Amino acid sequence: MNDLTAPDAEVDERAIEAALRPRSLDEVVGQQRVRDQLGLVLEAARLRERAPDHVLLSGPPGLGKTTLAMIIAAEVGAPLRLTSGPALTHAGDLAAILSGMNDGDVLFVDEIHRMSRAAEEMLYLAMEDFRVDVVIGKGPGATAIPLELPPFTLVGATTRAGLLPGPLRDRFGFTGHLEFYAPHELERIVHRSAGLLDVPTTGEGAAEIASRSRGTPRIANRLLRRVRDYAQVRGDGTVGLEVARKALDLYEVDELGLDRLDRGVLDVLCRRFGGGPVGLSTLAVAVGEERETVEEVAEPFLVRLGFLARTPRGRVATPAAWAHLGLTPPSAPEPVLFEE
Ligand SMILES: Nc1ncnc2c1ncn2[C@@H]1O[C@H](COP(=O)(O)OP(=O)(O)O)[C@@H](O)[C@H]1O
Ligand SMILES: [Mg+2]
Repeated sequence: MNDLTAPDAEVDERAIEAALRPRSLDEVVGQQRVRDQLGLVLEAARLRERAPDHVLLSGPPGLGKTTLAMIIAAEVGAPLRLTSGPALTHAGDLAAILSGMNDGDVLFVDEIHRMSRAAEEMLYLAMEDFRVDVVIGKGPGATAIPLELPPFTLVGATTRAGLLPGPLRDRFGFTGHLEFYAPHELERIVHRSAGLLDVPTTGEGAAEIASRSRGTPRIANRLLRRVRDYAQVRGDGTVGLEVARKALDLYEVDELGLDRLDRGVLDVLCRRFGGGPVGLSTLAVAVGEERETVEEVAEPFLVRLGFLARTPRGRVATPAAWAHLGLTPPSAPEPVLFEE
């Protein structure tokens, strides 16, 4: 599989990402609304000399949730304590972290929708009353020892806000929804990153990378690094329009940001199944991929582009998908045969 357009970060990508992260709200490109709202929340807390309200950040991977969490801690001037939902399998895991917090600390819980029930219950109390009940022992003899916590700010991040239980969502004073970025915003991000990486880049080069980045800064930064490689090996080191085009064609990322898998899915759907509907499993076998990969990696973007529709009877290619492949859709819908 081609990982160039995967929205999640690879392990060895994290260090590079850290270097490219905006460090203050002013440095963040785009997301104007969230930036304004968050700026206000932080400023108000500063005036009141209190820890800011708990903040929930939701949105697809790679749009800046972790970046904003770090900025919140930086603006508050407090250390950021970092954990994630999957790491909190027992209430005790959370209790250990909470009991080590200092006044005004910022606790970042990434993928907060994947926390265990028990940890969640404990978090309700901690968020609302700054208190946890530490349970000692088991069964009827168990006792709960209340433990006061210093005021802190919880920052939760989730790619699936819909999966968060209502009571948890309600305990956040502020929720910021991150949206996909417009091409001109991604262009600015590419320019900014190119500057930090010391890569000479033309406006057209940056625009070309931006337009193939699926609205996602993480992907824009990744494509920039690949185009830089190409520019250094095959060109004079400058990222211009020609170099960007050739490099991205070489890496099989097309003008809309579709990669090999995305196009494979559309191709099979149109050419082999006449545009569908076809079941997910059949589709996955036909492209030689896992079901999950097709469903979670390829489909969301294809649906977002309006190339693919998920219907109760299976996946269907839209006329736009046919057009993107340079094919003519069947003029009339295929006759449907009912087996009754
Ligand atoms: N608004 C932005 N401006 C500039 N760079 C950004 C922005 N949002 C994200 N990035 C870059 O994209 C990468 C991924 O961001 P991250 O905060 O890790 O996303 P998430 O946590 O939502 O998956 C980071 O390296 C960061 O530099
Ligand atoms: Mg993150």
